[in-house]
Amino acid sequence: MSRSVAIDGPAGAGKSTIAKLVAKELGFIYVDTGAMYRAMALYLLRKGIDRNDTDGIESACELADISLDYVDGQQIVLLMGENVNGYIRTEEVGNMASASSVNPKVREKLVSLQQKLASEKDVVMDGRDIGTVVLPDSRCKIYLTASTAVRAKRRYDELVAKGADADLAQIEADIAERDERDMTREHSPLRRAEDAVLIDSSDMTIEEVKDRILEEAGKKL
Ligand code: DC
Repeated sequence: MSRSVAIDGPAGAGKSTIAKLVAKELGFIYVDTGAMYRAMALYLLRKGIDRNDTDGIESACELADISLDYVDGQQIVLLMGENVNGYIRTEEVGNMASASSVNPKVREKLVSLQQKLASEKDVVMDGRDIGTVVLPDSRCKIYLTASTAVRAKRRYDELVAKGADADLAQIEADIAERDERDMTREHSPLRRAEDAVLIDSSDMTIEEVKDRILEEAGKKL
């Protein structure tokens, strides 16, 4: 049976940075499920579908062909066969992903893809519902969080490093709004699985968080 590390937590907690490092150490494949919801959001934005148009989202999502590929250990998200890694990291796509991921049809489609991947390979998978819905039987579950202010500052620094325009107050407001929506939605809200280990990364270095998770994986897998 394949093994998994399931990492959930709010936006900007450092999940993807840490999950990538953990996957490398363990020799597992890293699956960024947020990137899949982002690719779906990009598809909907390109089709000009409004975030409140439930019927439009439901019929369009059936046509969206999303898959993952790996090149030199890096995850590539393919939308209709096109590598869209370069288009999915904007705030616009992130906000649309948060809005469209409340839809059960969108979730159903992406969850089954994620479960199939995890049944074939050893994975470190991160998202919002990995420990609760996608891989409820995972033996190693982590809930990674950090304060809103710390998470906003990390996103801000990331954008500035890329040379993008960034407004810290706006980012903090967006993060708070996205948390609220991700945690209160009806289907698969973000919550800590009962058997998930809680890690607050606000005052920890990346190295410390990675080592903490590897220690857990060592014990449980
Ligand atoms: O982790 P991220 O910021 O790339 O995720 C973008 C959005 O996708 C997030 O606001 C909520 C949604 N998402 C989800 O609903 N379930 C997941 N497993 C991963 C992401």
